[in-house]
Formats: sequence, structure tokens, C-alpha cells
Amino acid sequence: MRLWKEPAAGQTLIAPSILAADFLNLGAEVKAAEAVGADVLHLDVMDGHFVPNISYGPAVVKALRGATSLPLDVHLMIEPVDPYLGAFADAGADGITVHVEATRHLDRTLEAIAALGLSPGVAINPATPVSLLEPVLHRIALILVMTVNPGFGGQSYLPNANAKIAQARALVGDRPIRVEADGGITPKTAPDAAAAGADMLVAGSAFFGPADRAAAMAALRSGAAAR
Ligand code: DX5
Ligand code: ZN
Repeated sequence: MRLWKEPAAGQTLIAPSILAADFLNLGAEVKAAEAVGADVLHLDVMDGHFVPNISYGPAVVKALRGATSLPLDVHLMIEPVDPYLGAFADAGADGITVHVEATRHLDRTLEAIAALGLSPGVAINPATPVSLLEPVLHRIALILVMTVNPGFGGQSYLPNANAKIAQARALVGDRPIRVEADGGITPKTAPDAAAAGADMLVAGSAFFGPADRAAAMAALRSGAAAR
């Protein structure tokens, strides 16, 4: 199983989400993320069924795989998910995260992701209790805590986000499972998310919005370090 690179001591991984990138220049956008030290690329796949928006699929993941050596963190907001796991593995995903709300047989789905040689993750929506993940902790490398309702970039960090992250961190204990916060992460909210226990922060608009990507990355990193 390929895992995310280890951060320097006390450093939180930053994962730019290309949902907020310039789609006409994706290759250059990914190179820019790489150049300023992104740890992981976060890829948001939306189907217009599980979430009320449509983004992109395996073809874009494959194109990105050819453009970067960064780990590809594929967040599947699709239902059903099982029929598409192989396509995303073939496209070059390193990790696949599925939503507990979109998966009827979560244990089987996670076993299938691991059998494909990928790092398995589970995402939980804001209204989903983290305790649902207790029975599958032995199968996962990552819990993705949705800190907005899924479907769109550029939303505000929700009021219960810190509590949810803290609950996920408490559930994980000393297991080697990352806690990823996804949605509304900015230099202002990053300290809260990191303090609550997130060790991987997704940033879409806060990273790809500003023209100066180096400054955007530096602001996110100092936010995360200010916890
Ligand atoms: C929302 C996605 C997020 C989103 C984050 O459904 O899962 O990854 O792209 O975007 P920002 O950082 O703009 O909230
Ligand atoms: Zn995401």
C-alpha cells in the first residue's frame, strides 16, 4: 500500500484541490502546486447524483498522473462507487476515499481498494457521526472529515467542523490513520483544523484563488503551524 509522504515533525500535509484550478491550464496549475511544495494533489470527483455538482472522472485523473509525481488523493463523491474503483486505480490514483453515506457495504469496498494496491480512505459528511467508522479502522489509512457540505468549492468552514475533526482524531488514537479536513480551509481556518487534530488539509480556493501560489502555500503552512 502506498502511503502519503511523512511530513517534517509537526508539519501538516497540504493538499491543493484542483477543483479550483484553471481547467484550461491544468498541466501548468499542477506544476505550480508542485513547485511551491504541495504534499499531495486532492482530486474531487462528483457525479451529479450523490452530490449536486459534476466535476470530472478517470480521464482527468489519468492526465494528471502523467503530469506530476505528487501522490493523487482521489475523493469520490459518487454513488454507486464500487463499479468505478478499477477505473480510478488504472488512471493512477494513489489513494481512494469513498463516502460512508454512498457505500452500502463499506467493509467490502475498502477491501477492494486495498486489493487494488491503493490507500483506502473514508469520508464523512457534516451530519454523519464519526463513530460509524469504528468497525473499519483496521482497513483505512485516512479519515476525510467534510468541513463543508460536499459538492462545491469556495464554501465556508462549518461551525461543527472543529468538533468533528477532534472526534475523528480521538477515534484514531495512535493508529497510523491520517485525519484530513476538506472544505473551507484558509489561512484563517487552518489553525483551528490543525489544532483540532487534522494532519492533512485540503485547500481549493485558498490555494488556486490567489495569483501568487507561493504566497498562498506559505500562508496555509503558517496557518497550520499556528495551531
Ligand atoms: C467539496 C470538495 C472540496 C473542495 C474544497 O465537495 O470535497 O475538496 O474542493 O474547496 P475549498 O477549499 O474551496 O473549500
Ligand atoms: Zn474533496
